[in-house]
Amino acid sequence: MNRLLIATGGGDCPGLNAVIRAIVHRASQEKDWEILGSIQAFNGVLWEPNEIVVLNDQKVKGIHFQGGTIIETTNKGGPFGWPIKNKDGSWSEVDRSDEMIRRLQYLGIDGVISIGGDGSQRISQKLWEKGLNIIGVPKTIDNDLSSTDSTFGFQTAVQIATESVDKLVTTAASHNRVFVMEVMGRDAGWIALNAAVAGGAEVALIPENDYDINKVKEALEKRFHHNRGFAVVVISEGAKPKGGTVATLENEEVGYHNKRLGGAATRLIHELKEAGFKQDMRETVLGHLQRGGVPIAYDRVLSAKYGVKAFEMALEGDYGKMVAYHHPDFVSVPLKEAIAKPNLVEEKNQLVKTALGLGICLGN
Ligand code: F6P
Repeated sequence: MNRLLIATGGGDCPGLNAVIRAIVHRASQEKDWEILGSIQAFNGVLWEPNEIVVLNDQKVKGIHFQGGTIIETTNKGGPFGWPIKNKDGSWSEVDRSDEMIRRLQYLGIDGVISIGGDGSQRISQKLWEKGLNIIGVPKTIDNDLSSTDSTFGFQTAVQIATESVDKLVTTAASHNRVFVMEVMGRDAGWIALNAAVAGGAEVALIPENDYDINKVKEALEKRFHHNRGFAVVVISEGAKPKGGTVATLENEEVGYHNKRLGGAATRLIHELKEAGFKQDMRETVLGHLQRGGVPIAYDRVLSAKYGVKAFEMALEGDYGKMVAYHHPDFVSVPLKEAIAKPNLVEEKNQLVKTALGLGICLGN
């Protein structure tokens, strides 16, 4: 019997369940493969007692359109940084990766499929270097993983953001206001830029392009004549003014290493007022609405392709790799290559040229 363990790590993402289902369905066509799921990324392996579930056809029935992940996820801790509470109440971290590999051996696990973003795939690479048979499946609504054309969940987030722009346009036009809509995207502005182009926004501010507030003000003023007019600005949570830093929120969650981003829209409105912009403004923060709910059809298909390919890589023993979409094919690329650099919006990208061609102000 071959045993394959699935773990979903990092922030959740529409399409995770569709990947899980595809792996299980593809595996059930082969003899002697058992698919297991570790609850909350690798926590399920490390907890005492462990929390590992059997994933069979029955268990994954109809989950392809469910948001979230049936085996839960976490973006805290992990095998290389397991939080432990000290006697004085403070927290420190221990490396439990060797212990986890021993536990997996004891459980008779032959391979692991880790579905996660850049943080999870960094962990995958380190585990691979320690000898664990592991395959990565790229997951992020931010679409910031390189070596693959697109990650699943991203188009669903773009769809949600675009529909939100559509809604804001009607209220903005009715009230002669500017709406600033903040979307996810900590390092990459793919969601913001796509939603701005698809929704017809006037301004798109992204992490890759530090904005000049006077340029933003100028672009917005052009939209008003005798105080009549409206405009929509789409801003990534990771966007910042020239010479400034990203807007952050407080975070006291144990084991959470990322900066919590938030406040970019509110800050932009404040900066516009300071710069002398006179029209009424409102902000909308989409937040986790972009990550919840059903994946659109495109992402379900993409997820299914990722899942089937991931299982077939396990079947062939093609470990230490990440599944990658290189249109029209699905291939395997070394994990090391996949995590080497992020997928950021570059000036030469056709989407940037398109946005500029449509007259969208990118803040510079
Ligand atoms: O990495 C994906 C992402 O959606 C980022 O854009 C965002 O900053 C982060 O996750 C928020 O994660 P959470 O609030 O779930 O920790």
